Amino acid sequence: MDEAALLEVGALDIAAGGRLLHRGLAFSLRRGEVLVVVGPSGGGKSTLMRHLVGLERPAAGQVRMFGHDPHAADPRVRAEIGRRLGVMFQTGALWSSMSIGENLMFPMRLHTRWPEAERRDRARFLLALVGLSETFDRPPAELSGGMRKRAALARALVLDPSLLLLDEPGSGLDPPNAERVRSLLMRLSRDLRTAIVMVSHDVDSARALADTVLFLDDQSGGAPIGPLDRLLHEGPPALRAFFGGMRPAREQA
Ligand SMILES: Nc1ncnc2c1ncn2[C@@H]1O[C@H](COP(=O)(O)OP(=O)(O)OP(=O)(O)O)[C@@H](O)[C@H]1O
Ligand SMILES: [Mg+2]
Repeated sequence: MDEAALLEVGALDIAAGGRLLHRGLAFSLRRGEVLVVVGPSGGGKSTLMRHLVGLERPAAGQVRMFGHDPHAADPRVRAEIGRRLGVMFQTGALWSSMSIGENLMFPMRLHTRWPEAERRDRARFLLALVGLSETFDRPPAELSGGMRKRAALARALVLDPSLLLLDEPGSGLDPPNAERVRSLLMRLSRDLRTAIVMVSHDVDSARALADTVLFLDDQSGGAPIGPLDRLLHEGPPALRAFFGGMRPAREQA
């Protein structure tokens, strides 16, 4: 086992609806490392994320987060995982009965003893960071899809996670907000050394952020993983097609 790994996945089989999607996935993530998961719709990206978070039990293999198996964890370890992990699901999954501000304050109430005023300040700060200063008191239903995504990203960040799992944080955003999110994630990984697993359809994000790319393809069942440049050289044609025929960086003029 890699003692320094925040997330370690070994020989992992993932299945959805009784169908095996991928076999033998293996990777690990240390501080500051970014894994970008790409692939066609239906390729199993969100299914993988649910396995990583511990929402689904692996058909085979292991997931270890901060050195613990989330499925075998006792309440104390579960609390520790909850404290150090930030998660954003594909649909945002905000709590509809709470205002946006309360959505951000809830994880702080659950996992910290920060006083109310501090929780409120932190929620406001993070909403400003994603360009949503005006939404604190509004219910999620009054926000657009892209605004809900940014609010969910802000919520994932409230506890300064050392590991972030994000399912398509940039999709459905207009170009300035997509760029805002991309540069926020870049600062998190470079400056705060946050480890990030991110599902993305966005080639620019993969290019800008990824140390490692994992390609999940439902057709071939293959799951090539490695630095983007190497995958563009050695990966299957479907992967090159996905990246629009992009050539490795050193071949570009
Ligand atoms: N709860 C479920 N029950 C049955 N099948 C499921 C379930 N969740 C996902 N699947 C199936 O698993 C496959 C992978 O779905 P998944 O949502 O992981 O794809 P994805 O790569 O995230 O796609 P997208 O890019 O559209 O978000 C699909 O064929 C889907 O129909
Ligand atoms: Mg998905």
